Amino acid sequence: MCDTAFVHNDQLFDRIADALVEVGYIVLPQALPVSLVDQLVARLHALDDEDFKRAGIGRQDDFQIDTSVRRDRIRWLQQEHAAEVAFLKWMDELRLALNRRLFMGLMDYECHFASYGIGAFYKKHLDAFKRPAPLLQAPLQISPLQAQPSRVLSTVLYLNPDWQTGDGGELRLYDEADALVLETIAPEYGKLVIFLSEKFPHEVLVAKRERHSIAGWFRVSGPM
Ligand code: OGA
Ligand code: MN
Repeated sequence: MCDTAFVHNDQLFDRIADALVEVGYIVLPQALPVSLVDQLVARLHALDDEDFKRAGIGRQDDFQIDTSVRRDRIRWLQQEHAAEVAFLKWMDELRLALNRRLFMGLMDYECHFASYGIGAFYKKHLDAFKRPAPLLQAPLQISPLQAQPSRVLSTVLYLNPDWQTGDGGELRLYDEADALVLETIAPEYGKLVIFLSEKFPHEVLVAKRERHSIAGWFRVSGPM
């Protein structure tokens, strides 16, 4: 369906790799084929409300729902719909391209549709705990938590036609020291943001209008 578009991605992937090395993030007003973004939006709107669950924080053992931290509703993407398959394929191309260029060792990618209703937000957070530097990693016991794959690269694709300045819902990226605002990014149609998960605290400002996106994470496997 979108195969021909993938042929021209080498330069785009070069740009993304360079940005990750130089600044650790990139904001691309349009990266995926518009036809694919259109199909993802159609897919999102065809889903029932019941398909979406209130998003939580933490994982598995310490998973909890805390509406003072985040108020979005999510649904994980699956391989069962053409638009979802095409999106996952595009992200897999990116995964392989980054592994080739940067030896990142990205193993897989997980992602979900996210819907923020009016008044929803996501307070400042990091998408991953900082991993210890390899030399400091104790070759002792690995707890089950450490053995899990960890998120190293975050992506967000926005699915909102005609987003206006007053609509809020911006993604705000802070620097690693959490001292400066680096970017305040409007969630505009087709925009793709990619950033190192362990480096950039970020938040989603209150949405004044329903706000849709696909948030995803490339992961590396846990220590062996
Ligand atoms: C997240 C997240 C940002 C956004 O889901 O972890 O930070 O702009 N999303 O939707
Ligand atoms: Mn996040």
